[in-house]
Amino acid sequence: MQEVSVLAPATVSNVVCGFDCLGFALEKPFDEMTVRNISERTVRIINRDNFGLPTDPANNVAGVVLTAMLAEAEADFGVEVEITKHIKPGSGIGSSSASSCGAVVAVNRLLDDRFSKLELVEFAMEGEKLASGARHADNVAPCIYGGFTLVRSTDPLDIVPLDFPTLFATVIHPQIEIKTAEARAILPSDVPLKTAIRQWGNLGSLVAALAQGDYSLISRSMKDFIVEPVRKSLIPKFDEVKAASIAAGALGGGISGSGPSIFMLSQTQITAEAVETAMRKIYSKTQIEFNTYVSKISPGGVRFL
Ligand code: HSE
Repeated sequence: MQEVSVLAPATVSNVVCGFDCLGFALEKPFDEMTVRNISERTVRIINRDNFGLPTDPANNVAGVVLTAMLAEAEADFGVEVEITKHIKPGSGIGSSSASSCGAVVAVNRLLDDRFSKLELVEFAMEGEKLASGARHADNVAPCIYGGFTLVRSTDPLDIVPLDFPTLFATVIHPQIEIKTAEARAILPSDVPLKTAIRQWGNLGSLVAALAQGDYSLISRSMKDFIVEPVRKSLIPKFDEVKAASIAAGALGGGISGSGPSIFMLSQTQITAEAVETAMRKIYSKTQIEFNTYVSKISPGGVRFL
């Protein structure tokens, strides 16, 4: 029997102006997973946390992606997967993505690394489909590649790993539930051309600013005219958190994925910690429980233990 253990990081998708296209990997929090091959040709899920996620492989994101992967590989074995999640499901920082990506990277090792990173993203997108109803790749791509990634296209899949300077993220996770499928359902199906022009101007300049390490341009580019105006009403104190974070020195930020987490980017760890203090001050005055994280943007994705 062979056994492989991995850590699968949280990710922030959309990054304000890149809905469904842009994302980055955090160093923490992360999920822990161990996979081992078993003779029975099945996927067995063992949850080692208290989140009560399904163990039926057809209803579990790791189960779905591994069933597809083992079938494609025509593997003559099955796998047992032990999952200890630290990224709370529904947090908006890529919890389902971490489960899917950790599972495919670990089992790929049992398959002698026969699948490329791009193929692993393709499998992991099946988990996103189960979790949210949409095959988006903006969490799974950075979870596997690390750093910032741009999803140029999902059909055919085309992932562009981006150059980026040293950056720190501050995340606040209010303990309220926002279902990704519902946060997608409220979005407009059409965008006026004028709005689209403003949006792609910002996305293009954000990608250039990351490559050039131009922090001022990063800051100017993090504007969203399409998604944030609609979704922010789902997140209590969103405008206050954003204003206080920018006053504390953040370059900018917004809703992490489909929320409820809010993220901010900063140039230094000291600023990112000041932003954390500012965020905590606002949420401490509410009745809502919350967690905060400060993390460097991780150049790597899922890593082996
Ligand atoms: N891009 C997706 C959305 C991410 O915002 O709906 C969901 O995690």
